[in-house]
Amino acid sequence: MDHYVIKGGNPLVGEVEIAGAKNAALAILSASIMASQPVTIENVPDVSDIRAIVGAIEQIGGEVSHPDRHTYVINGAHIKDEPVDNEAVRKIRGSYYLIGALLGKYSKAVVALPGGCNIGLRPIDQHIKGFRALGASVRVCPPGLVEAKADHLVGSHIYMDVVSVGATINIIMAATLAKGNTIIENAAKEPHVVDLANFLNSMGAHIRGAGTDIIRIKGVDHLHGTEYSIIPDQIEAGTFMYAAAATKGDVTITNVIPKHLECLTAKLIEIGCEVIESDDSVRVVAKRRLDHTNVKTLPYPGFPTDMQPQISVLLGLSKGTSIVTESIFENRFKYIDELAKMGGMVHVEGNTAIIEGVDHYTGANVKAPDLRAGAALVSAALSAQGYSEVYDIHYVERGYEDFPEKLRSLGGCIAKVSNSDEERKAVNSFNMRVVG
Ligand code: UD1
Repeated sequence: MDHYVIKGGNPLVGEVEIAGAKNAALAILSASIMASQPVTIENVPDVSDIRAIVGAIEQIGGEVSHPDRHTYVINGAHIKDEPVDNEAVRKIRGSYYLIGALLGKYSKAVVALPGGCNIGLRPIDQHIKGFRALGASVRVCPPGLVEAKADHLVGSHIYMDVVSVGATINIIMAATLAKGNTIIENAAKEPHVVDLANFLNSMGAHIRGAGTDIIRIKGVDHLHGTEYSIIPDQIEAGTFMYAAAATKGDVTITNVIPKHLECLTAKLIEIGCEVIESDDSVRVVAKRRLDHTNVKTLPYPGFPTDMQPQISVLLGLSKGTSIVTESIFENRFKYIDELAKMGGMVHVEGNTAIIEGVDHYTGANVKAPDLRAGAALVSAALSAQGYSEVYDIHYVERGYEDFPEKLRSLGGCIAKVSNSDEERKAVNSFNMRVVG
């Protein structure tokens, strides 16, 4: 079984380049089928979630070419009227963006219910409410398909009951080609909402206010082709920032938008790290054991839920007691049992983790329970004394491009292996590196 073998103890040092944002790419690749001409999308990360959405687009008749590792050219001119449903689609969350895209363009969508990490209930009632407000009828029919259709969509005034990234993006897509004006209030403000709006505008859409909580959309007749480059991944960047701090390292993270990282940077500075920002990079230096703090996850620009496991791992090594409150997803502390195997001292009460900092973690065999928690456990293992094995890494591969390779380039002893022979070789190479 594929897993990572890791020898902890080396501080991460050097420079690492961040890929394009997975969650922005999922939305933008889906929206690309709304154009009547081919669309070129650059800086797409090479991760399994992206391959799944591209597979779905091909399955329904999208013509896809892939001129280089990070570029896709998509022509959605010949999309077929058939359900979007296969095993890969059912595993990812972002497949729900094909509902908004297909409904917006063809006034009809039949898409398998979204999957994604098991971090909570993850309902789609706000997406459905938005589609209905635009005039669609929506029902969930067997075997787990969402069917949305309308004679034609008509702009509307929609107030979101919860701040939802997915629903905001889906409603933007559906409203882009609707007749008349749409206003979305209490919209999500995440960088990938803005990126999606910029992408659609570059194809001729008329979307204003993305990045604020009121988004105004004037429906247009059609969308033309474009060339667009996806923003850097805020969460991949944050993961490397926090891994640098957990290993008492010194890492410059390049190809980032420092503004998107502000709340992550602020927490690092608060607990005693040095963070040096430049135009498109941040350098994180951690020279000593860090201090404790409290954190609550919130919609952007608050502390992202997708960085909650990473900061908990870091605070697990800090002095004193920290409190981490998860306010977005109710089931996002499953990794705590795995961290306990490494010596983490965390007690979970409801949506709150009370973390007693320990001096160091100890290597152990652990399982990634989801994407971000998997990355956080890797960072714990890199900081630990001794060897660890991290299993269920297919979760990690959903969202991190070349994760072990990038960590190795920073001096981390980590390898992806699939059997005991490969594991032995990897361990030997780690020991050679330390001796050498
Ligand atoms: C997206 C991200 C995910 C991130 C999350 C929050 C993608 C593919 N995934 O997920 O990585 O953790 O944003 O930043 O971009 N909710 C409802 N009804 C709905 C929709 C959401 O009650 O119809 C609730 C959710 O249960 C959750 C909260 O709203 O408590 C936020 O969810 P949302 O922002 O929609 O997350 P996702 O789009 O699923």
